[in-house]
Amino acid sequence: MVTGSAGFIGSHLAHALVQAGTTVIGVDRRDPSTDPTAAVNLAALRGRPGYHHVTADLLHCAIDPLLIDADAVFHLAGIPGVRPSWGPQFGDYLASNVLATHRVLEASTRIGVSRLVVASSSSVYGPTDGEASRETDRPNPASPYAVTKLAEEQLCLAYAERPVGPSVVALRYFTVYGPRQRADMFTHRALYAALTGQPLRLYGDGHQRRDFTYIDDVVAATIAAGTVPNAHGTINVGGGSSASLLDVINIANSLTGREIQLHQDHVRNGDVLLTRADPGRAGEVLGWQPRVDLHSGLRAHMQALASPVPDYSRAA
Ligand code: NAD
Ligand code: UGA
Repeated sequence: MVTGSAGFIGSHLAHALVQAGTTVIGVDRRDPSTDPTAAVNLAALRGRPGYHHVTADLLHCAIDPLLIDADAVFHLAGIPGVRPSWGPQFGDYLASNVLATHRVLEASTRIGVSRLVVASSSSVYGPTDGEASRETDRPNPASPYAVTKLAEEQLCLAYAERPVGPSVVALRYFTVYGPRQRADMFTHRALYAALTGQPLRLYGDGHQRRDFTYIDDVVAATIAAGTVPNAHGTINVGGGSSASLLDVINIANSLTGREIQLHQDHVRNGDVLLTRADPGRAGEVLGWQPRVDLHSGLRAHMQALASPVPDYSRAA
């Protein structure tokens, strides 16, 4: 089962699993027949043998029947995004990221699922001193969103300590980009601005750095986390290098031959200056290392944005 399968990462994961011959039950509360983003994300999967979509809210739906025969649960459903989490939407963050996760854990335990992979976040680390973040570092979440992601992964890990229930791998994804990235995220917005000539709003001076991680690499790590025997605990999914927002802007400019018009705005609350993963544990436990460098990844992301029919081939 893949939860959040109508979303950015979940739809790529479901597609890669189906391509590999796995049967996938995809669960998402966004209905692809009415929600345009879900429709685009699921276009390559709808009607395809091996993929079964269930439109349901994990806060209320009966989860047990969906889990019969499931070897693994990839729990990616949640409300992402740092900035809106300060607003009145916090209840939604708490409900989808913590309470719905609790329901998934209870159902997985009842049905006897052997492995649960949960999408955690680099944001649990908060501000860093410039060193790469290791899984053993003390979490220091700097936004309401990050607090819910820390609660979510720790809840899953607490369940994993019990004698019954699934083994748990909590993947701390570092700023994921690539085709079909969420429209609120920086990389999408920068490439869109470069392609269309519309201005880009820059929160701060653009020197913030992120360990940008390409979607295909994230999918590979996630599948490994669902299949590698004896894997458990938290694992960073980031390559160990970082680039600034200005670096991304420069690459986008060079790819289009057009200068992005910047509108500088104030730094947003909870925005950290740097994220950088120590990828050592991902290498040791999952045998994972990223393959796609930032320039190639941005080129593929831009090609997908520029093409009228989304290009799904890279997620295969
Ligand atoms: P997304 O918004 O594109 O996908 C999340 C999906 O979950 C959405 O389709 C949404 O409808 C679904 N969902 C939310 N609440 C639900 C509920 N109660 N019941 C059923 N479905 C529900 O986001 P994404 O960028 O693909 O992120 C996927 C996961 O990865 C999230 O948990 C996010 O916190 C985490 N994450 C993402 C990134 C990133 O860079 N995109 C980085 C770190 C962690
Ligand atoms: C991203 C995702 O949005 C989170 O869901 C995820 O949990 C997190 O990565 C993670 O790694 O765990 P973030 O790194 O803030 O969070 O990614 P963006 O939303 O793409 O923002 C990156 C930077 O660009 C931030 O400094 C932000 O302030 C800036 N930004 C964003 C802009 O300057 N302008 C914009 O229009 C959007």
